[in-house]
Formats: sequence, structure tokens, C-alpha cells
Amino acid sequence: MTNKNDARIQELLQKLTLEEKAGLCSGSDFWHTKAVERLNIPAVFMSDGPHGLRTQKGEADHLGLNESIKAVCFPAACATAASFDTEMANELGTILGNECNAEGVDVLLGPAVNMKRSPLCGRNFEYYSEDPYLAGKLASSYIQGVQSKGVGTSIKHFAANNQEYRRMSNSSNLSERTLHEIYLPAFETAIKEAAPKTVMCSYNQINGVFSADNKNLLTEILRDAWGYDGCVVTDWGAINDRVQGIKAGTDIEMPGSGGINDAEIIAAVKDGSLDEADLNKVVERILHLILDKEQMNGTVDWDEDHKKAVEIEKESAVLLENNGVLPLKEGQKIAYIGEFAEKPRYQGGGSSHINSWNVTSAMETANEKNRQTTYEKGFSADKDLYEEDAAKTAIECAKNADVAVVFAGLPDAFESEGYDREHMQLPKCQNKLIEEICKVQKNVVVVLHNGSPVECPWADKVSAVLEMYLGGEGVGEATDALLWGEANPCGRLAETFPLRLEDTPCYLNFANDKFNVDYTEGVFIGYRYYDTKKMAVQWPFGHGLSYTSFKYSNLRLEKETMKGQDTVVVSVDVTNIGSRAGKEVVQLYVKDQTNTAIRPEKELKGFCKVALEAGETKTVSMKLDERSFSYYNESLKDWYAATGTYKICIGHSSREIALETSVEYITEKELPFTVDMNTCLGDVLAHPVTAAVFQEMMKHAGSHLASEEQVNNKDDLMMQSMMNSMPLRNFKTFVQIPTAAIQGMIDHMNAALDAAKNQ
Ligand code: BGC
Repeated sequence: MTNKNDARIQELLQKLTLEEKAGLCSGSDFWHTKAVERLNIPAVFMSDGPHGLRTQKGEADHLGLNESIKAVCFPAACATAASFDTEMANELGTILGNECNAEGVDVLLGPAVNMKRSPLCGRNFEYYSEDPYLAGKLASSYIQGVQSKGVGTSIKHFAANNQEYRRMSNSSNLSERTLHEIYLPAFETAIKEAAPKTVMCSYNQINGVFSADNKNLLTEILRDAWGYDGCVVTDWGAINDRVQGIKAGTDIEMPGSGGINDAEIIAAVKDGSLDEADLNKVVERILHLILDKEQMNGTVDWDEDHKKAVEIEKESAVLLENNGVLPLKEGQKIAYIGEFAEKPRYQGGGSSHINSWNVTSAMETANEKNRQTTYEKGFSADKDLYEEDAAKTAIECAKNADVAVVFAGLPDAFESEGYDREHMQLPKCQNKLIEEICKVQKNVVVVLHNGSPVECPWADKVSAVLEMYLGGEGVGEATDALLWGEANPCGRLAETFPLRLEDTPCYLNFANDKFNVDYTEGVFIGYRYYDTKKMAVQWPFGHGLSYTSFKYSNLRLEKETMKGQDTVVVSVDVTNIGSRAGKEVVQLYVKDQTNTAIRPEKELKGFCKVALEAGETKTVSMKLDERSFSYYNESLKDWYAATGTYKICIGHSSREIALETSVEYITEKELPFTVDMNTCLGDVLAHPVTAAVFQEMMKHAGSHLASEEQVNNKDDLMMQSMMNSMPLRNFKTFVQIPTAAIQGMIDHMNAALDAAKNQ
């Protein structure tokens, strides 16, 4: 694609000295690229991200330790993902883009789209989901929002950075299929749909190669296969071998290494080990990032943005359980218990940490609204200590109320960037207090403040559970509105809540080796694992309740058969059958019925959030294409959907499928197939070309092996399956065909395959 700055950039490439070119490849400080004043090349200013501005104008750091400007802290991605709302993700992006303009920020460091492989990853709160389709769609909308304001984004952390433990050195070891099917698609979708100005490469190694050195990742996949033409920026300090990085496609090293790596680039060009043309490609991309900037003027009304943070959180919280106790009713005596009611935990630690504009608590909001609530601390929000006296008063307070609302959650120290959680439990003091309160009060509501699933041993004893996640600075107002029914919960889980840590798919292989992490569970993460294994879970992926209820009907397909690149529109009617307005998230899962590859039982391939008045019906439509049915086939090195039947399931969650239909898909792709001594007879007979050749040859040899009766003798299952799984080399043993003759047959079949391919 041509661009208005192309000519100027070519001119600059001629004028820049080697030293200046190398200099452009790294930051001048923590947040800026280098300016070249003599040629009027300005610097680019970057800032974290992703759920608010951590803009540092003084002392800088990448761990959220030093001061940053005051800014609105929006709900973290763990929460906004649960909104399943792409329009809202776009709105959030637009608000952030505007804030960036007001603060002179050119690139916002987000969104973060790594998959939630284990609930223990310390940084899950910043990530969207265990599902790549959902994460990709949300990220793409967010990026379009930010970039609509002329501000760049940095989708991160590319790729397979799914734990904090030794994140700067550990190697994530995974199959090509797992990488393409689970860990890359969120990036791929966002890159193809939203073209983020930058991609941030991760700290870790992938199969032994650092992301910053990884040509396969940064050039072959990102640029050649996905058509990306933006800049790759390293995570802060993720550079490994600077010269290899240039060759691999790493453009900007952040935050720079005081000129050490720039000097390595210069030396490599001078000694011929780095082609200057490779450096020029990098510099050209960097110049585009700098010169294509379209800074707009921005003014921010931070109080207005705070209100937006409250609205976003209302759309994101998930009502996990409710026996009717919620919403709370005027006139009831309500006990608020737990320090989180006063001091909510609303954001995580590390580089995303915001110096918040105005934090509101549920207690403060209740007081402002003159709710009939009493408050007892019960336990401290920041430690795991059962304080007998405080607990006793809280239990007494709960006993004397009509409903006890316990504000529980994870203390700050339990989850943060930089380290992983060691278990999935809430502090023991909180679990104990909830159990004790359940003994004296039948109406117990638990409100959760956490960035990732926790075990809830009391789940069957309480009347309601409201998951607020790390809901941003407006979490108090949002909680109040949801508890008291001024807002209707409409979030759905973007991740499974397993019953216990031991049930999680990577329990045996997570953050327990200094050098490597083997993704042995393959493509089976999250619900892909639990649903395929039919395991009991606490709350499934996609689950979430409302104060109203919804019914699906009239599921229909635009067509019943599709071929190659065809698409099919799936439509379904949704009715609000309750008595108040609400929002439903219609989820579309695909189940492969072809039995051609080992695949998850079902996979999310569409979703749509729809607002409905009481009694109202709307039709929701979602489009499926070849990719919706495909898995990544390693021999083809591409996505592949076999010919056959695919079920289309419409559900309220991955475990609550309401309607099903199916579509027949006919592929136009052919899997590579060649015959050798170890090819099994069954495979030869399953392919039309080799089957025909083989049967012909057997007929001539007078063998019964491939006779009609033999092949079709369905009664003799044992015989048939033995034959089907017999490699051709065994013809020697069982049919006494000499090796040379078998090889002759093989050559014949391969020649026929070639001929068919070239037709
Ligand atoms: C984090 C990034 C962040 C960067 C700059 C790193 O430690 O991994 O997500 O954008 O610091 O603060």
C-alpha cells in the first residue's frame, strides 16, 4: 500500500547516517524513541495501557512503581472481556485514544491478548480470555477505537507469554498446531481487522527462540502470512540479540540500552554480518510510525470518563448465582461485611497500575444513596488473618440483617505482574467467615473482587455470587447499581471457573521448571478441555445470569451446504421472557462431527450481545466461514476443515446449549498424501486415487485383499480394522509379497497421486 510519507521516507533513508539509523532502532529513554533534529524527525511517546493511562512525566519505570499522572482507571480486561461487548470495547478504546491525545501520548501500550492457559498466571487480570476468538474480536474493536483518534496501539505480548514465572528467559514449548490454533489467533484477528500501529513482542522464548529473535514469528507469520506492515516493539527489556532481532523483524528496542545495542548494529553493518538493506527495512517501518502520526487535539473531562468507567463495569460484572435474593429490596436490612466494601480491589499490580482519578466504594455509594446498610469490616482486605473479634461482630451483624453481603476478593499481593499465584484460593480468613455467616444467615450474597478465578468452597451454601473482577475505579458505584437492581447484570464468563486447581488442564506443567514450560495439554485449554472431558466445573465459560431471562427459538441457516470460501448466516430469535429489560449474550459454538482430527468438543465461533425490553423478541444473525470449521493442519501448514457435518449450537453458555442444527461443509483443499512402506491399507483405501490403483493391482495379482466382499465386509469388523491398520510393509509377512513388488505398488500409487494433482 502506498502512503503519503513514502517519498519523504525514501529521501530520509538516503540522508540518515548509519549511526542515526541504528539510533532510531531503540528508545532514547523509558518512553520515547529518538528524535533526529537535524532532519526534523520527532520522537514517539509511548505509555501504558491497557485500561487507563500510566503516563509518566518524571521518574520512569516499567513496573508501576513511580508516579504517573492522575487518570481514570477503567475495568481491567478480565472484566471488560466478560461484557462480550465489542461496541463497548470500541467505546473504551475511543475514550482512551482521546485521553492519549490530551496527554500527548502517541502509542498506548495495549491491548494485552495472551490466552489464560492457567488461572494462576499473575497477569491474567490484564488478559481477556481463555478463548482466542473472543479475545481477538474484543481486541480488534478496542484497537479501532483508540486508533480512530489518531493514536497508535501496541497489541501485546506476542506470543505465548502465559506465565510470569521467569517470563524473561523461560521457553514456551508448544506444537505448531497449538501455537496457531490457540495462542496466535487473537493477534491474527486484531492485526487483520484493526492494523494496530505496533505489536509488542514478548519476553519469553518460543520453542527455544526468543520472540525478539524469532523470524518465523515476526516475519514469516506476522508480516508474510498476515500482511502486517506496522512496527514491532520489544517488551521492556525483551531484546536478546540485537542484530538477529533486526534480521528477524524486531524494529524498536524499548527502552533502549544506552547505545550498546545501537553500536552492535553499526558494527554488524560495517563487518558485513548485517545487510544494510535489512536495517533499512526496519528504519522505514519506524519512520512510518513516526511520520504517519495523526495527533489530534484532545481535552478530557476526567469526571465524565469516570462515569464511563462505572457504566463499563456495570456491563461487565457477572452474576454467577442467584436464588432470587438479588436485587436487594428497599426496606430490607442489609449488612455489608468485608473490608473490600470500603476499600475495593479494583486494579492489578505492575505496569498497568493507574494513579486513579476517583475511586468509589460500595459503602460510600450506599451512604450517598441512603441505603439501609450496616457495615462490619470482618476481615482486612490486604491480609489473610482471621481476627476473632472482628469476625464475631461481623457474624452478629449478619445474623441481625435480612441479607448479608460479603465483599470478598484477592489481596493485592496475591496477584500481580511479575509473579504467578501459587494457589487458586481466597484468603482462608474470608472462606471461614463466609462459612460462619452461612450458619446464622440464610440470605448470603458474595461479591468478588479478583483478577482470575478462585475456588469457592461455599458456592452451594450462599444465595448469590456477583463477580465484579478488577472493576476499575468506579467499581463501588457499579456494585451498588447491580446489587440494588438499578442495573441488570449482563456479563458472561470469558473463562471457566474450575472447581479446584488440580482440575486445570496444565496443572502438571505450569511454572514449575526454570527453563521450559511444555504446553502438553495442546489445544485443550479452558472449556475446550473441561467440556471435552465432560468434567464438572464451578461455573462454565459463557455463564452469567440476569434479573430477567431469555429464550431462543427459530434457529435457521441461510443454506445447509457450503463449499470452500462460502459463508453461511446463522439466525436465531431471542425473547426476553422476564419482566424487566436486560441484555443477553447469544453464543454460537461449532462441533466438528467429521472425526478427522482430535478436536475440542466445541468451540466458540460467534457471539452477539443483544438488549431486549421485557417481552421483546429480536433476531440475531452471525456469519460463519471456512475458518469457523477449521483446525490448523500441520502437514498442510494451513487451516483445514474436512468435508462433512458440523453442528451449530446456540447456547447461553458452553454448558447450556439451547438449540442445535448442522451444516454440511465441502472442502476445496486437499491434504498432502504420499504413500510409503508405513502407510496403512486403510489410508490407501480411503483416498479415491490410491484406492482405485490398489484395487486394480490386487485384481491383477488375483488377491482377495481388496475384493469387494473383503473391503465391504462390515460383519467382520475385527478383520477389517486389522487390515485397515496394517502398514503396506506387512504385506511381506502376511501376504508374502516381496519388498520390491510392494515398492512398485507404492511408486505406482504416488505417480497416480501426482498425475491427479497436476490435472
Ligand atoms: C510489561 C509491558 C509494559 C511494559 C512497559 C513490561 O514490564 O510486560 O506490558 O507495557 O513493561 O511498562
